[in-house]
Amino acid sequence: MANSRGGFTNKIGFIAAAAGSAVGLGNIWKFPYETGANGGAAFLLIYLCCAFLIGFPVMMAEIALGRKTGLNPYGAYASEGNKRWALAGLFGVISGFMILTFYNVVAGWAFGYFLQISFGDLLSAENFGAFFGGYVADYTDNMIYSILFMIVTAIIVARGVSKGIEMAAKVLMPTLIFLLILLIIYALTLDNALDGIRFYLVPDFSEINGKTVYSAMGQAFFSLSLGMGALITYGSYVSKNDNIVNSAVIVTLADTMIAFMAGMLIFPLVFSQGMEPSAGPGLVFVALPGIFQSMGPVIGKVIGGAFFLLLCFAALTSTISLLEVPVAYLVDEKKWNRKRSVAILAGSIFLCSLPCLLSQGAVEFFTDFMHYEGSSKSFLDLVADLFSEIGLPLGGCLLTLFIAVKWKTSQLSAEIAIGYPSYQGSTLEKYVNIMITFICPVILGVMFITTLLQKFFNVALF
Ligand code: PHE
Repeated sequence: MANSRGGFTNKIGFIAAAAGSAVGLGNIWKFPYETGANGGAAFLLIYLCCAFLIGFPVMMAEIALGRKTGLNPYGAYASEGNKRWALAGLFGVISGFMILTFYNVVAGWAFGYFLQISFGDLLSAENFGAFFGGYVADYTDNMIYSILFMIVTAIIVARGVSKGIEMAAKVLMPTLIFLLILLIIYALTLDNALDGIRFYLVPDFSEINGKTVYSAMGQAFFSLSLGMGALITYGSYVSKNDNIVNSAVIVTLADTMIAFMAGMLIFPLVFSQGMEPSAGPGLVFVALPGIFQSMGPVIGKVIGGAFFLLLCFAALTSTISLLEVPVAYLVDEKKWNRKRSVAILAGSIFLCSLPCLLSQGAVEFFTDFMHYEGSSKSFLDLVADLFSEIGLPLGGCLLTLFIAVKWKTSQLSAEIAIGYPSYQGSTLEKYVNIMITFICPVILGVMFITTLLQKFFNVALF
């Protein structure tokens, strides 16, 4: 089965693709604004706990289930469980589709910023906040760029696993890290940079409440690409002798490190420019141009352009993984061919992304779509809340429940041990089994209920 569906050429190929999936807008766009909106260092601390203590075992479990079954999330749950459990997999497939409808829009903004910085006059704007607001409200450019993004994603996914997905990830990630490091060094030399570092690294525990915790959990799942079967799907292309533990450690570390670095870049900038760290989703798009402007017109255009271009590439390796999930579902379950599945899905995702695209000021109805959590929310906010903030931890809860009651941790251990014989009997195995059987389903289940109540029914349990 695995052969006819394609597969990664080797372990490095899988790690590159999985890290490519994990590292994306979640790290560089979403993580800084979530941290800024939820009190800084205290959020960072909880985020790291969520990623390492909960995210990491869930990641191993997703990869193992994918590799054992060689199938998409729906098929994986169906073959190891039954049709009812498969609904959890189907929910993942739908989440992939829906997350892509807003992710692609933000990726289009990043591409537009690359063009506007390198070839337009963005860096001579007087007020980057006003520029951003005007930019996202003007839907013509945004529409073109998000179509473009979807087409490039579709072409790579249509090329298949090793030629498309793996190659794209191997080259782009190292370049992004290099540029990030350079920019951090530069940002640290700016006035008031230290205030930013203090906000980011010195926790104020009075900032912690229920919202901090569920936002951190949602962010950890989003950033690590967990809870919707992206890693079940990628796991299905992994060879049996690969070491899953090793791969999951590398992916978790790479992802958290890049998110951490994005914070080290953004908060010095935010404070040196006297901005509010809690500015929300525009934070990165408003803070970053300032640093590029200060580099002078020529260098600013080159470095600024390069940064946003790399951000696009990071986003691309994530959009690829998001699209791959529903594609694998159609290929495995409906026996469609890959190219046809890609074309139909990419087209429908683009159409469904239009309300998100128009919800940033272009169309009042979608912009001021609902009111909850004490403020007005756009259509994009709603989709992100339902399928990412709430949906991904729920997906994680269902996965761990499935393993605890149906698949059993013994099968999980046996699968992991194939490429890592000393896993069985190790302390790590005990830890993973306890987490998956008792802690994760409970914490994630409670989190699901509290998030739902707090967001949509204004009931705060904690
Ligand atoms: N992890 C990706 C990011 O941080 C987003 C993503 C979520 C990708 C879920 C796949 C699945 O940008």
